[in-house]
Amino acid sequence: MSKHREKETADKVSGAPKQEIIDEPSGVSAVEKLAENAEKQAKKARKEEKALAKAEKKARKEAEKAAKEAKDGKDGKDKKSEKKAKKSKKAAAALAASAAAAAADADTRAADAAPLPKLFEPLTLRSVTFRNRIWLPPMDTYSVFAQDGKPTPFHYQHYVSRALGGFGLIICESTAVAPEGRISPNDVGLWEDGQVDAWRWIVDDIKKAGAVAGVQLNHGGRKASTGSFSLGYINQTVPAERGGWQPLGPSPIAFGKCVTPTEMTVEQIHAVVDQFRAAAQRALWAGFQVVEIHAAHGYLLSEFLDPLVNQRTDEYGGSFENRARLLVDVVDAVRDVWPAGLPLFVRVSATDWSVEKGSWDLKQTIALAAKLRNHGVDLVDVSTGGIVSGVSIPAAPNYQVPFSEAVHHQVDIPTTTVGLITEPRQAEDILEQDRATAVEIGRAALREPYWPLRAAAALGVDRNDAPYPPQYIRGAYGTKR
Ligand SMILES: Cc1cc2nc3c(=O)[nH]c(=O)nc-3n(C[C@H](O)[C@H](O)[C@H](O)COP(=O)(O)O)c2cc1C
Repeated sequence: MSKHREKETADKVSGAPKQEIIDEPSGVSAVEKLAENAEKQAKKARKEEKALAKAEKKARKEAEKAAKEAKDGKDGKDKKSEKKAKKSKKAAAALAASAAAAAADADTRAADAAPLPKLFEPLTLRSVTFRNRIWLPPMDTYSVFAQDGKPTPFHYQHYVSRALGGFGLIICESTAVAPEGRISPNDVGLWEDGQVDAWRWIVDDIKKAGAVAGVQLNHGGRKASTGSFSLGYINQTVPAERGGWQPLGPSPIAFGKCVTPTEMTVEQIHAVVDQFRAAAQRALWAGFQVVEIHAAHGYLLSEFLDPLVNQRTDEYGGSFENRARLLVDVVDAVRDVWPAGLPLFVRVSATDWSVEKGSWDLKQTIALAAKLRNHGVDLVDVSTGGIVSGVSIPAAPNYQVPFSEAVHHQVDIPTTTVGLITEPRQAEDILEQDRATAVEIGRAALREPYWPLRAAAALGVDRNDAPYPPQYIRGAYGTKR
């Protein structure tokens, strides 16, 4: 497959904010460092080999000379010469053994300089370099107990610890573009300027820890105003007295036990486009380097895509073009304010898993991804489900990988895959088989924030090439004491 637009570099695009690029941890330098080290080691080994060969030659000559002297000695009884010959022979044998060991050592060093596992290969999209391809997907923590959309010290600890744990990209959780776009009253947001500073310290320290900082922008649509672990009302609409509100949707069709949403007017649809634009602008001010638009899991943008949920008869419903219109308008609006040097992702549900004819499926996802690519989207984050309730989902390790693979190859666009990927070898195989450009580790990263460090050890990456913070290198996997 062609090398996608992964290879696009800063000089290919214009308008990139320079400081965004300069501060990037350059994963490429890690590779260069590796190559440089390997070359140094190989040079040293060659030198040692040469010296040993020379010494061996000298010893052999001496042994031959001594043997000759012994032979030529009177009646072969020159004991002194015999002894000398024996000694020289022994030295020659020892030197030969050393030379062989040095050669074997050189071979091992060459093997050590083998290319990094794919998981640890850096990736450049536009002008942003990701140090590796192990990414943290967006996962809502429902932890804004003040209900003001501002991330808290909990969010700081949660995201910065995973950046220290070696992830290449941290995609911060579903972040509402409007108060009524929150999935729960406890969601974070970027719907007003006052929220920017609350994000900035988190973003700064994610970057200082060597990861790229991304944010997922979302509008919850008919699944907004649902419960959380602190409020209760799980999978239901939260009542007004607990901070809930009346949700919006493309059509008055309820999701599961949630209340029936209000069908949006065209003016309300236009307002959502503006909200995404303004939130992306704030994400830039906060220092984020990647924006991901959430068009999956049954939130507003994916509701418009799926004919089971969108039964509008205006220009936003009916045909594929009409159902995709809102998402494409949002992408265009975000691209308007999102610098050309920074990547834009879209997360999609590649299928709604419904068996109903004409419902949202992989074929439409592929058509959508091609459209998104033409509108400046750099990567599709391929998930599934969540759009309609009551369907059966065959969740198992790698169950969403075929969808990523299809989008990746049929559209020729970078993708990520996610879903029950828990083991380093499993993740590495996905990349080696070119089924995705990067993998996302979700729930496994909730229990193991340093998953990439374990993966590095499991895949034989030298500790100096693994994404250890310098402070942690003494505790690297393989340390004996
Ligand atoms: C606690 C939790 C919160 C989540 N919140 C979001 C979210 O905010 N946005 C989103 O797109 N997906 C969300 N997801 C889905 C994850 O990003 C991921 O796709 C899913 O967990 C499957 O990957 P995994 O098997 O590696 O966990 C969430 C998942 C979990 C477990």
